[in-house]
Amino acid sequence: MKAVVVYESLWGNTATIARAIAAGIGPDARALSTAEATAEALVGVDLIVAGSPLFAFQLPTDRIRDTIRKRAGSFPAPPDLSHPALRTWLAALPRGTGCGAAFETRMWFSPGGATGAILRELKRAGYPPAARGQRFRVTGMFGPLKTGELERARAWGTQLARTT
Ligand SMILES: Cc1cc2nc3c(=O)[nH]c(=O)nc-3n(C[C@H](O)[C@H](O)[C@H](O)COP(=O)(O)O)c2cc1C
Repeated sequence: MKAVVVYESLWGNTATIARAIAAGIGPDARALSTAEATAEALVGVDLIVAGSPLFAFQLPTDRIRDTIRKRAGSFPAPPDLSHPALRTWLAALPRGTGCGAAFETRMWFSPGGATGAILRELKRAGYPPAARGQRFRVTGMFGPLKTGELERARAWGTQLARTT
């Protein structure tokens, strides 16, 4: 099975979870940023797992990213805006035939969510859901990940590989 875990990550938490999911899926699965996950990298893919942070209660928009860009100097660490928003990547995803799965990183108390929108877009492109969306928690606005979340991500990856 060819699996790719695609992520948008400004402060690294979502990228770290993506790598743990890929490790759980197996040695051939790759975690790629939205810049790295080109149409070429997706040829023949059986499973796309896509994840983003939750910003302002939703899958990040270009407007939210613009605001973050303007305020970049005021954050404790600079945001990585070098790769496109997952929303943009999903809108351009070429049609395929495989399964999809979605995850988000977020603070626990927040309403809203990103995985519903991710799963909808994956399905539209021909990747119906293989599992329910997963939420992984951070302990503050910029992280770090809550203890145990990496292990949970890895276990979810293993479960995805078994069921798809
Ligand atoms: C500008 C901004 C807005 C955020 N909005 C929310 C939010 O609405 N709900 C939430 O649970 N967490 C929110 N968070 C926390 C992030 O979702 C969390 O830190 C996430 O893991 C960041 O992912 P990244 O490190 O991959 O960029 C926000 C963080 C920032 C910096």
